[in-house]
Amino acid sequence: MFMNLAHRGASQYAPENTLAAFYYGIQLGANGLETDLRISRDGVVFLLHDDRLERTTNGSGRHTDYTWAELQELDAGSWFAPAYAGERLISFETFAHLFGRKPLKLALELKDDGIEEEVAHVVRKYELQSNAVVTSFDFDSLRQLRRLDEHIPLGYLANQWDADLLERLKETRVGQLCPNAETLTKEQVNLLKREGFEVRAWKVKDEALMRHCLQCGVDGMTINFPEKLHEALNGE
Ligand code: G3P
Ligand code: CA
Repeated sequence: MFMNLAHRGASQYAPENTLAAFYYGIQLGANGLETDLRISRDGVVFLLHDDRLERTTNGSGRHTDYTWAELQELDAGSWFAPAYAGERLISFETFAHLFGRKPLKLALELKDDGIEEEVAHVVRKYELQSNAVVTSFDFDSLRQLRRLDEHIPLGYLANQWDADLLERLKETRVGQLCPNAETLTKEQVNLLKREGFEVRAWKVKDEALMRHCLQCGVDGMTINFPEKLHEALNGE
């Protein structure tokens, strides 16, 4: 099935990486969710894109300076719109508990170094191996995760690649390659598919890029406005 993944939830319409954004993404027709994983000072993996708190919460400074108890006090919705006041940061365990057993594809991006072990632990605890893919821009992080777990599906986020990298990805059994939509070509998608990769585009900033990715033949994409993709896929 084509992967229509709400990027940080339906982040065009609701505060990214909050429950409001994830539930709205599903309501808009996404069949999966993308999110970003970081770790608190006391070792709790939670959902946050930036390595600082200012943009998407009412906190300040680096997230690694705070315990999970302190981070849970923050408002993660007001910055987006007053109607979302009171949205909280979410732990990875809560996300796994709420969405892991639904028929949803989950794309989990490692944003901090050193979280691989805890991420592998939660993926196993909630049995996410069949519907989740752990992704990173950092090949070494993926290799580390593969050493920790033979079965977790892995995806590499790439701006560019070469034959050597593709070979190393295959050796590590990274099954998904995620090219930047802005530079994507049909030839690249064909080549990656011939090499055996599932191809999922990211940075799909507007509808023109969405249509471009569809024309190139990708297997899915992360998108901030999943209803547009849902409409395009269903001929509406
Ligand atoms: O789908 C991958 C994409 O989320 C990577 O970029 O900056 O949105 O985390 P970013
Ligand atoms: Ca991401």
